[in-house]
Amino acid sequence: MVSFVSSLCGKISPLSLKEYKDNGGFDGLQKAIFHMKPHEVVKVIEDSNLKGRGGAAFPTGLKWKFISMENSDEKYIICNADEGEPGTFKDKILLDGCPLQIIEGMIIAAYATKANKGYIYIRGEYPKTREILLKAVEILRDEGYLGDNILGQEFSFDIDIRSGAGAYVCGEETALIESIEGNPGRSRFKPPYPPSEGLWRKPTLVNNVETLANVPLILSFGADEFKKYGTEGSRGTKLISVSGNVVNRGVFEIELGTTLKEIIYDICGGTLKDKKLKFIQLGGSSGACIPQSLLDIRLDFDELRKYSIGLGSGAILVVDESTCIIDFIKNTMEFFKHESCGKCTPCREGNRHIIKILDRIQGGEGSERDIELLKNISLLMKEASLCGLGQAAPTAIFTTLKYFGDEYKEHLKGYCRCGICDMKGREE
Ligand code: NAI
Repeated sequence: MVSFVSSLCGKISPLSLKEYKDNGGFDGLQKAIFHMKPHEVVKVIEDSNLKGRGGAAFPTGLKWKFISMENSDEKYIICNADEGEPGTFKDKILLDGCPLQIIEGMIIAAYATKANKGYIYIRGEYPKTREILLKAVEILRDEGYLGDNILGQEFSFDIDIRSGAGAYVCGEETALIESIEGNPGRSRFKPPYPPSEGLWRKPTLVNNVETLANVPLILSFGADEFKKYGTEGSRGTKLISVSGNVVNRGVFEIELGTTLKEIIYDICGGTLKDKKLKFIQLGGSSGACIPQSLLDIRLDFDELRKYSIGLGSGAILVVDESTCIIDFIKNTMEFFKHESCGKCTPCREGNRHIIKILDRIQGGEGSERDIELLKNISLLMKEASLCGLGQAAPTAIFTTLKYFGDEYKEHLKGYCRCGICDMKGREE
């Protein structure tokens, strides 16, 4: 385990500006606005090779460059704090533990990209965190870090807090933008991407909480210090949220490049009651189910890509042998069916049909044709859904069919090895 982006969490009072500054807080901002031009700040972020920590791992410096090149006198910075991916609770640690660091990251981003207004979009399920953020913004406004002429300079930027209302899709950046605009949270077609056309159709930078929390540290210590962590293609650290059938659950900061085996056995103490590990799901419900045999995989963007796996939000769900694959998948797909915004047909109808098929298989009435149907519908959703929700929803189906195909077949023959599914149909 390492302590870089989360080093102040639990160490200082979250709302104490003095303690934050005594521990290096606002050094990064001071360095940026007193000693650097906006494009030099963008260059430092590019040099650090920081990649988005919300899930997609898009190069942060490149995103900043896109918006800084836009010629508009109205630009926005949005901190995406709508972490809705099941099993993901790592941003909450930062939001509760060091809100000033995240806001400092937003102010630096605003200076670098010449934005004048910011929003923190916080998930509705975090009401206490929202209160902390409201206070943090108030404190920083009173102390001249937000508002007009920040620290006496010709640079003005202010932040508002907006709350979600429990919709998973609002974590998707364009649905989030729609929600801030007061519309139902439904994704837009991309392109245009938010850096060119985002909030109120103006250039908008949307960055995840953890991404922004890294920014002050990179500015303060330099890109090279950040690059000491991680691997050649995956620099820095990552917060992971571990849950499920494992001894130590919680949020841990690791160096990128750490193997899944090290995380589960060295950091998290192995499975509960030493039961046999069946798989881990990486990146929440939209992530891949990775069997025991692949636990030597490093959490490194390039290595994961070789296996067509994404790191996603960094959620790690540990699942032991007592869990039935079909039951697990059904539960996962119920979530997506519930959360689909309904705008595009592949996602709206695909999730519904997959549940029907899984119901048949669980009830002992499935056939080989159902497996083909599952594959075809999943492929269609992946290729044709409007946003990440529908595109990623069938990831668990693809990976469990690949690694646990036997268990699907057993269900077709009326047998559930975990004794969970009610296979009445087949018996009759
Ligand atoms: P994406 O790949 O469409 O985009 C990633 C980012 O790069 C976006 O900000 C997008 O605007 C930007 N981008 C991509 N191409 C661009 C271009 N040509 N020009 C300008 N900007 C460009 O992925 P998306 O849909 O934003 O995120 C998907 C990820 O989110 C998944 O990996 C999933 O794991 C993760 N996720 C995370 C959740 C959480 O709670 N943290 C919840 C649900 C999903």
